[in-house]
Amino acid sequence: MTITAFQALACPLDGDPLQRDGASWRCAAGHSFDIARQGYTHLLPVQNKRSRDPGDSKEMVAARQRFLNAGLYQPIAEAVSHAALADLPARASVSCLDAGCGEGYYLRELASAAREGQTLALLGLDISKWAVLSAAKQDNRTCWVVGSNANLPVQPGTLDRLLCMFGFPVYHEFARVLKPGGLLLQVDAGPDHLRELREIIYPTLKPERTGEAQVPEGFTPLATETVRYVLKLTGAEQIADLLTMTPHLYRASAEGRARAAALSELTVTVDVRLTRFARQTG
Ligand SMILES: C[S@@+](CC[C@H](N)C(=O)[O-])C[C@H]1O[C@@H](n2cnc3c(N)ncnc32)[C@H](O)[C@@H]1O
Ligand SMILES: [Zn+2]
Repeated sequence: MTITAFQALACPLDGDPLQRDGASWRCAAGHSFDIARQGYTHLLPVQNKRSRDPGDSKEMVAARQRFLNAGLYQPIAEAVSHAALADLPARASVSCLDAGCGEGYYLRELASAAREGQTLALLGLDISKWAVLSAAKQDNRTCWVVGSNANLPVQPGTLDRLLCMFGFPVYHEFARVLKPGGLLLQVDAGPDHLRELREIIYPTLKPERTGEAQVPEGFTPLATETVRYVLKLTGAEQIADLLTMTPHLYRASAEGRARAAALSELTVTVDVRLTRFARQTG
């Protein structure tokens, strides 16, 4: 397996292709974006920032990094890597974006799942600079950028695969950047996801929102897969990390969070949907 440089970045101001020029990326119109010392590039124009420090906080990123690097969502990573790399010719060259990549776990796992002879060009994008910084520190083979799913700094029709893991899909952008026949792989919480944790932190359980029903314009649905298993969390830190990396941290009341903080072990169900869509041709 070879990881090659990602070549299809576009200027976030005008969409022109970006060319590497030493320690920066430049477009033909002269816009220039420095590559930070830690190896990532900021491609989110100030006017597209809705807040001063958008996306996940430093604490949320650190919690997710500990949790994921402990291998607790490894079956999810395996399913996604398998779906991304299945049915490829032996010497395939694949370009893949993780849109809302967090601290980069799923791209690291994809890189290690690729087979001999396969070549990957990887782009990880997140609106949180903390997430991208953490991703860049852990892996220097992938192109890491701060950017938004709402305005992807990617040239049209250039991607073979696009991952959206527990994220915020913007389908018209995903359709724009995928090649015809390219795959969108989306992972979302299923109805029983983390049910036991939710039972502890909420007075009554609302059904999990499941985003399965609609097929986005420009895509053809392929088979959906469920990844379901039981996860035993040991120690207060793992439980706190799981709460901190999910939206439940903000939705739960102070009493609910205190009940979770009092636990020293917890068994939770992991129940996620892996939805696959193919970008239509023509
Ligand atoms: C629930 S986390 C999932 C992170 C990662 N995909 C994972 O599963 O480990 C959602 C991520 O989306 C990012 N995010 C939020 N809004 C975004 C946007 N408009 N564009 C790109 N990323 C965004 C957050 O900063 C956060 O890292
Ligand atoms: Zn430009």
